[in-house]
Amino acid sequence: MIVAIDGPAGSGKSSISLQLALKYGFVYLDSGAMYRSVTLACLKNGVDVYNEAEVTRVAKESQIEFLYDQDGKQTVLLNGEDVTGDIRSSAVNAVVSVVSAHPSVRTALLDAQRAYGQKTSVVAEGRDTATTVFPNADLKIFLDASPETRALRRIEQNKQKGMLDDPDALDFEKVLESIRKRDEIDSSRAASPLKPAEDSIIIDTSPLTFDEVFSLISRYIDAFLVQQN
Ligand code: DC
Repeated sequence: MIVAIDGPAGSGKSSISLQLALKYGFVYLDSGAMYRSVTLACLKNGVDVYNEAEVTRVAKESQIEFLYDQDGKQTVLLNGEDVTGDIRSSAVNAVVSVVSAHPSVRTALLDAQRAYGQKTSVVAEGRDTATTVFPNADLKIFLDASPETRALRRIEQNKQKGMLDDPDALDFEKVLESIRKRDEIDSSRAASPLKPAEDSIIIDTSPLTFDEVFSLISRYIDAFLVQQN
């Protein structure tokens, strides 16, 4: 089964997708972490993020691996180096939308993303997993929430990740502004913009708790699995 969950930054899709993958024993694909890793590789190597050819070269040369422990704690390796914290830094947040707007960077990462769905069931999460990566996904969900709700959630997440020495990561106005800016770039780009697929189920999570969203999507997955058996 392929479950594709898209939505803007802070809509709750990462934690929901990861927990669904753990519950059902599906593989979890965090496509945003791939764009973040390429962005970090550019920043580390002094590559101009606006230079599409150079960024594409970095994307092709980057080896990105994900490890998960039994609680679902993620470790991201970039060319063998642990970059789990660094890919969530404000520096990466500030330019990841520039990197992910380059069409040839997206193409360079597409095969690796699709490979996840070839062998096993997967919960794929990002901006275009239902529209471009897995257009034939069995279940497509688009999670949305107001920018203010998303900013508050992102701050909470950053606190839990221990980003206490990054003041920008905990400042409401700054996080809100960064979310609005990324929404704007992600939605208006030509290549695979952030938008629900025609057959996506759209869920506004603003008034809902994590558990409510989780059990709602679980019911859709259960219904699909029952139908298959
Ligand atoms: O979900 P996230 O915040 O980790 O995503 C980081 C950036 O990557 C986000 O600004 C948009 C981009 N992205 C994308 O363009 N396509 C995806 N499938 C996933 C993320």
